[in-house]
Amino acid sequence: MIFSLSVVISSLYASDTLLLEQAKQNFAPLPKTFPSAQYTMMPEKIRLGKMLFHEKRVSIDGTTSCAKCHPFSYYGADNLEKSRGNFGKLNPRNAPTVLNAAGQVSQHWRGDRKDVEEQARKALLGKGSFGAPSNEWVEKKLQSIEQYRILFKKAFPNDTKPISVANYAKAIGAWERTLSTPSRFDEFLEGKTNALTQKEKTGLKTFIKTGCASCHSGALLGGTMNQKFGIVAPYWEYTKSKKIDEGRYNVTKKEDDKYLFKVPQLRNVAMTSPYFHDGSVTSLQEAVKIMAKVQLGVDLSQEETESIYLFLQSLTGKLSQDIVTVPILPETN
Ligand code: HEC
Ligand code: HEC
Repeated sequence: MIFSLSVVISSLYASDTLLLEQAKQNFAPLPKTFPSAQYTMMPEKIRLGKMLFHEKRVSIDGTTSCAKCHPFSYYGADNLEKSRGNFGKLNPRNAPTVLNAAGQVSQHWRGDRKDVEEQARKALLGKGSFGAPSNEWVEKKLQSIEQYRILFKKAFPNDTKPISVANYAKAIGAWERTLSTPSRFDEFLEGKTNALTQKEKTGLKTFIKTGCASCHSGALLGGTMNQKFGIVAPYWEYTKSKKIDEGRYNVTKKEDDKYLFKVPQLRNVAMTSPYFHDGSVTSLQEAVKIMAKVQLGVDLSQEETESIYLFLQSLTGKLSQDIVTVPILPETN
């Protein structure tokens, strides 16, 4: 009796160790921040970046900030199929979360922004986002607010012209580079195998065995490469998308890039419905089923789908106090 119990325990232990090894080959714990070789992360810059993320006075209609489309109440996404920008303008795609986004190889569904800094800089003039008429217009707005003149100077002490759109983007980028949200999955990867429930471990096993990790890998379970959406079958037959998006093809005009999208990260994915580049699918279980079908040609059983779904929930991280506290913005002068 005692002998068989210890056999069971040691084989359970062995299977946990094996799963941990497999997981480590495919994934990695989230880093505490996402530094860049090009940009520094001084505290003054990060603090200013957090304020600017919530700043709507740089938009043409005075109502649009980054936080409008990436509120943390919805884990840095907006829970809409497609975002609404200045004067309610409809964006062509769904808003991914800003949490952990800085850790990806590129930004946007089509990977057409190099890093979070380029993303932030270009959002200002984006017709569907801030709709600012020019960089000079934005700089004038910021310049008119006394406290920003002080804060930009502190964040960029060596610049002769501290207030600029480039520095707006660098400050926001520095803050975004701090938005890391580790979860129980990271504890598991660090060796604490009981950080995941048995069901979540089964889900992790199914995720790897089915082939999901061939694309959704690394610390973010995605964000490392572009891939075709709909390798085995046209995606829109399953997502019921109303409009077919040709993906990266529209950026590069290369035939090989047709229907290519960045493999999205899966950190916090349970919190950021609806799914896919056009927000065409509301249910995460449905999104998992479609992925298996159109990317891998696999028909997942209900049990397997649920099991992957449970595993994905373990990727929901804790938002730090700094992330969820709204900053007080400077008075209008
Ligand atoms: C009108 C809504 C809206 C506003 C305002 C907005 N975003 Fe976005 N954001 C989106 C949408 C939609 C996308 C996806 C665009 C695409 O892929 O074509 C996106 C993409 C991103 C991404 C890429 C994430 C990824 O995984 O690829 C980041 C980072 C981001 N936004 C940060 C910001 C920041 C910082 C600001 C403010 C400077 C901002 N956004 C303003 C809607 C918005
Ligand atoms: C061949 C690469 C590849 C494989 C394999 C793959 N995916 Fe994906 N996955 C993608 C791409 C590309 C997208 C983005 C699709 C789009 O444009 O909306 C995506 C999107 C997703 C999304 C939606 C995320 C969001 O924020 O909207 C989920 C969930 C997902 N995949 C889970 C899985 C699961 C679970 C598996 C295994 C059954 C899997 N993927 C297998 C490439 C892949």
